[in-house]
Amino acid sequence: MRIAFLNQKGGVGKTTLAVNVADGIARRGKRTLLIDADPQGSAIEWASARAANLEDGENASFPVVGLPANFIHKELPALARDYDCVIIDGPPRVNKVSAAAIQASDLVIIPVQPSPYDIWAADEIISLIEQSKAIRPEIEAVFVVNRKITKTALGNAIGDALIDYPLPVLETEICQRVAFAETASRGQSVLEAVPRQRAAKEITKLISEIMELFDEQGCLIPWHTA
Ligand SMILES: Nc1ncnc2c1ncn2[C@@H]1O[C@H](COP(=O)(O)OP(=O)(O)OP(=O)(O)O)[C@@H](O)[C@H]1O
Ligand SMILES: [Mg+2]
Repeated sequence: MRIAFLNQKGGVGKTTLAVNVADGIARRGKRTLLIDADPQGSAIEWASARAANLEDGENASFPVVGLPANFIHKELPALARDYDCVIIDGPPRVNKVSAAAIQASDLVIIPVQPSPYDIWAADEIISLIEQSKAIRPEIEAVFVVNRKITKTALGNAIGDALIDYPLPVLETEICQRVAFAETASRGQSVLEAVPRQRAAKEITKLISEIMELFDEQGCLIPWHTA
């Protein structure tokens, strides 16, 4: 399973979803690696905060490595050898690193916030994915709505706006929840820190939906050819 969270728009939740999904997949017993492909190094900072807050004898549950490079796809087979799942947290721009992250992935997840500007901004990453498909046609991409404000008309209108795009939208929507920011500052996931809260329930649902897209061997089940 090789999954990249990508969108050139900054602050849409790539890192938030990457660390929480990586943590949740690791909790399901999959050997998981998180690659920080963003030169800002946010996932690496999350891992440092995590290491600093670990009690004696506790371990981090999955490693985070920094690789903001245009050769991720070339390094990946060696890096991924001992893992069932590799998650890539992408940079906030469309560049060679984003292109390499797409080439390294089976599935690209594009977080979008429920604003028309965010949805229009997805054009760039979608065209990069289209170009990448010329090299690896089996790459798939999906949208996930993040930071939805519950019960707003704007939130509900987003699903309709995304229908105009050639990519599917995951059914799970992640809402605007303070638990995401609070736990991140301590290097924690919502599943470990606030397992009973809605944020954790949404992440659990998101992970289940993502995992259903892969078979037992961790291969993406192609849906265009079905
Ligand atoms: N569902 C959410 N609810 C509340 N806050 C959120 C949510 N998702 C993300 N955030 C907050 O929004 C901010 C931006 O999120 P994040 O850093 O994950 O975005 P990003 O796409 O990785 O940004 P960048 O493009 O800079 O890498 C962070 O402060 C994060 O805590
Ligand atoms: Mg980020």
